[in-house]
Amino acid sequence: MHHFHYSNQNLHCESVDLAAVARLYGTPTYVYSATTIGENYRRLADCLPGLDVGICYAVKANSNLAVLRHLHNLGAGFDLVSQGEIRRVLAVGGDLSRSVFAGVGKSEDEIRLALASGIMAFHVESEPELARINHVAGTMDCVAPVAIRINPDVDARTHAKITTGKSGNKFGIPLAQAERVHEALGKLKHLRLRGVQMHIGSQLTEVAPFVDAVGKAAPFVAELKQGHDLEYFSIGGGLGVVYHDALASGRAEWWNVQAAGQRPLTPETYGAALAPLLKPLGLKILLEHGRFITANAGVLLSRVEYLKRSEGKNFLVIDAAMNDLVRPAMYESWHDIVPLQRDTSRRALIADVVGPICETSDCFAKDRQLQELGEGELLAIMSAGAYGFSMASRYNSRPLPAEVIVKGSTFELINARESTEQMLANEKVPTFLRG
Ligand code: LLP
Repeated sequence: MHHFHYSNQNLHCESVDLAAVARLYGTPTYVYSATTIGENYRRLADCLPGLDVGICYAVKANSNLAVLRHLHNLGAGFDLVSQGEIRRVLAVGGDLSRSVFAGVGKSEDEIRLALASGIMAFHVESEPELARINHVAGTMDCVAPVAIRINPDVDARTHAKITTGKSGNKFGIPLAQAERVHEALGKLKHLRLRGVQMHIGSQLTEVAPFVDAVGKAAPFVAELKQGHDLEYFSIGGGLGVVYHDALASGRAEWWNVQAAGQRPLTPETYGAALAPLLKPLGLKILLEHGRFITANAGVLLSRVEYLKRSEGKNFLVIDAAMNDLVRPAMYESWHDIVPLQRDTSRRALIADVVGPICETSDCFAKDRQLQELGEGELLAIMSAGAYGFSMASRYNSRPLPAEVIVKGSTFELINARESTEQMLANEKVPTFLRG
């Protein structure tokens, strides 16, 4: 569910005409719907009725300060993976005592910062990491809260690059070793066990892998709970969203995924399947979803530069590129592409939608059927609110795009388009190269 829709043939975000946003702030520009984010958040928070649920929003999905502040206002904690993400949450007054610090490569500095900021727990991925956290906590004369991240060896049946819970992935501790790690932890006096965590992958569209993983982990969690004041079990994130529209299959309401015959994995289905396994544990349950909260809450606005007609092939060259949104190039992912101004009298165009970057992978869609569009016309790349701006780069020396948030009929710039001066600010030519 989201709040992007056509009104008088013009694509709107909530009550804002997206063409007005493009005119004011230029393109490429990300636009987020605050209402959609709020609704997605609440659906997740309510998906396990009767259980004590905490949401640790995965900041990596969309880390704009406005988005973080919005989620903080709604009561979210955060799933953090770097010093930069910790600083972002601190910058918006976010609550570190409800946030967790994950990742296989936590540096000493990051551990120190997380401890000093009152982190709820470190999600520990290896024995050497346990030793390091214990050491840093010792130098700070404190006890570090930790949770063991287990790898349940479950196939998440998602894209290979975003599968994380299979043996052979770099993440987590295999269940067979988890007992040993737990014993090692018991001997380290600057550590305190607070929970168990797992995360099996991203963009999961079936509930079965979640059920398998929780089923595999539950006996270990129950066993640990007997000997400890275990407080929580975090089952990670990973809930997939529907990226495909119905326009391609000839339906008018492209956002109506049910009508398109695609059954999204809803938080309600997910919660109903997992509740019977989680309830008997008697623990707080943490959810670390990122994509579900922000993906369908954002679009990337772009402008057509050229319609290039080649032999037997059309290329719609737009001003957004793989540096702005890398998902299609990196994961062959599908994003709907729709005109900001819909005109049903126009002919259809079948084209590759490409950016200006000098490599063939700079392609958002292949042989996509669109309404015919020409130079200067505007379009939106849908479902770009997660892993969009947060994965953007400056490849081809293209400055980072702008970001805008909408609430009802108001909108505000929340990240100005980077200027060339800002892009070059930290670089310099060394003295020995100056002529
Ligand atoms: N928790 C942990 C420990 C994670 O590693 C991740 C994502 C999440 C939670 C949130 O997962 P989500 O609910 O967003 O699926 N760049 C890729 C996705 C990478 C996900 C990495 N980890 C993409 O654009 O599809």
